[in-house]
Amino acid sequence: MDINKTIEYIQSNSQGINPKVGIILGSGLGSFVDVLENPVSLSYDELDGFPDTGVFGHEGKLHLGKINHTEIVVLQGRAHYYETGVVDAMKIPVRTLSGLGCESLILTNAAGSLMEEAQPGSVMAITDHINFTGVSPLFCEESNNRFVDMANAYNSDMRSRFHKIADDENIKLHEGVYIWFCGPSFETPAEIRAAKTLGADAVGMSTVPEVILARHAGMKVAALSVMTNMAAGMSDEVLSHELTMENADKGIQDLKILLVRFLESYS
Ligand code: HPA
Repeated sequence: MDINKTIEYIQSNSQGINPKVGIILGSGLGSFVDVLENPVSLSYDELDGFPDTGVFGHEGKLHLGKINHTEIVVLQGRAHYYETGVVDAMKIPVRTLSGLGCESLILTNAAGSLMEEAQPGSVMAITDHINFTGVSPLFCEESNNRFVDMANAYNSDMRSRFHKIADDENIKLHEGVYIWFCGPSFETPAEIRAAKTLGADAVGMSTVPEVILARHAGMKVAALSVMTNMAAGMSDEVLSHELTMENADKGIQDLKILLVRFLESYS
């Protein structure tokens, strides 16, 4: 497939919007798109190289819009490694955002908390990650730029801005290390104890492949996790997808405020 055709198709429908920032929304966090003024929305089914929406059973849409004067593109719906066993399923979407002109990418996800102080409903800025899966979306890349430097993968200036906004808005923004497990089963309590020993603060089944792809494409990255549950073995709750979605609400409200305030003053 020719990614330039996908980019041209989006541009021909974009009504003049030239996004500078891309956003990838995590499970249950799709309502963020409601804040866009008159977005242009395209289904992934129209976009060659984008994941097949049948796979993930929730909306797969690309939205172009503005928040204040900032032109953005939002991907609502991501393909996870556990859905297909394909580790680079988000390669074309991430490269498309870069090809559309995005210099920065903001990722959001739902995560389990390994920090007692970060209870369900709280938000954490990711400072670094641990790839616990052993796979990479850059497998089979041929050029030497596949050896991507992952130090400072999470941009500290963007993170500082999120902290400043959180302080102004009276939102407690935690920060910490995200560990990527491939899922789809939740982790065992023993795995979570191991993850804690390794230095993890939050656990999830997404984001890391997109961060690797975005750094490979030269984009600046920030990522925010909404804690939807305490990680396995840390509370008496039985983990389920439904539970994680229910707990996301408070975090989603704070996340929306952080994103909107960040984007409306983006320069
Ligand atoms: N583990 C992995 N992924 C998750 C979790 C979790 O506890 N909560 C939300 N996504």
